[in-house]
Amino acid sequence: MLSAESAAVVRATLPAVAGALDEITTRFYGTMFRDRPELLDGMFNRGNQASGAQRRALAGSIAGFATALLDDPDTRPDTLLDRIAHKHAAVGVTDDQYTIVHTYLFGAIAEVLGDAVTPEVAAAWDEVYWLMAGALISREARLYRDAAVEPGEVWRPWTVVERRTETPDTVSFLLRPADGGPAPRARAGQYVSVRVRMADGVRQLRQYSLSCDPGGDLRRITVKRVAGTAGSPDGEVSGLLHRQVREGDELTLSAPFGDVFLDERDESTAPVLLVSAGIGCTPMTGILAHLAAIDSPRPVLVLHADTSPAEHALRAETRELVWRLTDARAVFWYERPGPQEPGARTGLMDLDGIELPEDAAVFLCGPLPFMREVRGRLLRAGIPARRIRYEVFGPDLWLPGAAA
Ligand SMILES: Cc1cc2nc3c(=O)[nH]c(=O)nc-3n(C[C@H](O)[C@H](O)[C@H](O)COP(=O)(O)OP(=O)(O)OC[C@H]3O[C@@H](n4cnc5c(N)ncnc54)[C@H](O)[C@@H]3O)c2cc1C
Ligand code: HEM
Repeated sequence: MLSAESAAVVRATLPAVAGALDEITTRFYGTMFRDRPELLDGMFNRGNQASGAQRRALAGSIAGFATALLDDPDTRPDTLLDRIAHKHAAVGVTDDQYTIVHTYLFGAIAEVLGDAVTPEVAAAWDEVYWLMAGALISREARLYRDAAVEPGEVWRPWTVVERRTETPDTVSFLLRPADGGPAPRARAGQYVSVRVRMADGVRQLRQYSLSCDPGGDLRRITVKRVAGTAGSPDGEVSGLLHRQVREGDELTLSAPFGDVFLDERDESTAPVLLVSAGIGCTPMTGILAHLAAIDSPRPVLVLHADTSPAEHALRAETRELVWRLTDARAVFWYERPGPQEPGARTGLMDLDGIELPEDAAVFLCGPLPFMREVRGRLLRAGIPARRIRYEVFGPDLWLPGAAA
């Protein structure tokens, strides 16, 4: 809990700090990577650095956490912290690194805000930082323990046993542990980080959702090749996976993490609503495959929007899984419909005429504007916010606002 004195100082300075966070985080990453370039090799995602997305996510999370502390000093914004802790575990963050981040972050705050950072102001924000760091460190320790790995030691080699082209832009890789051991336990909806060495020798990580039932010994990821637009470069890791990785090759994967998963303990009978767009179908297919593998009697409704049936990854498999389940159905929307899906709707996803079970556990994945729009519609249809879980395929720039 934040002390009363610090709470007053944080309240008074939050607007100034929040207003300068973009400059602070730019400086923070600049000086940290200048002094500790090893953090850019096999830990931080340089695409997210170039686009500024990680900087904005960090800034948003600090402002969101401080606001939540002031609003409700006795509780923690669990969703915000869980999201970050799972991502940290998936990239191998260790508790000693919080001191490095603290040094550079507070150096940047002092430089940007200058004389406004009196000793009282510095001490109050220090308290916020260590409250947040402490909450993250304890969550990350638990995640490493549950995954049965040493903190930060999440990596393991996997062999590609099959490479399958799903659509012109999407490829699946079926993987088995290269050491012959059993696959670690994963939950339906979770993701792994994939670590690859780029042509310049620098290792890069990206996250990919498990697109098959996580219960077996094999894992599957399904990767969409990201094409550059309007002068921006093509995606580097998705491009490398598409161009270079073949059956028999080895890939380095993290243990599975991710806070958006099908929780079978509390909701074993509640209906499941899976809503996705584009490559956002991957965690949904994992959840669907798991429900089919355990012969779940739960009512399942799959809603998916895509450009066309030919570009809809895992479309035929989704149909097949829906058919195998006792009480499941699917509705697809296409901007350009095709003969493969004669019953599909045309255009973007609307929920007109779709009967939505109020007590459903809802999973949402796709581009942010799509998720915002659909979440709004679901809320208006009477589904409570707490039942809607969503996965963002990048630094989460939505959650901090929602948590604040
Ligand atoms: C939890 C989670 C699950 C995910 N699951 C999946 C999945 O199942 N399947 C899947 O395909 N993807 C998934 N993703 C997305 C995936 O992790 C990668 O983000 C994606 O593959 C793109 O990575 P990349 O290296 O190819 O692109 P990057 O090189 O990281 O580029 C990403 C974007 O940034 C732009 N960019 C890069 N550098 C610059 C620059 N210097 N200037 C301007 N713009 C720049 C690029 O043009 C591109 O648009 C998931 C992400 C998360 C966080
Ligand atoms: C209190 C301190 C910290 C806060 C508030 C914080 C916050 C965040 C946030 C908000 C994200 C994005 C999560 C998402 O994907 O939605 C993130 C990702 C990440 N964090 Fe932290 N973090 C902290 C400490 C650290 C430390 C100590 C390290 C290790 C040096 C670290 C390394 C990373 C990395 C590598 C990512 C993924 C970056 C990417 O994929 O672009 N963080 N963090």
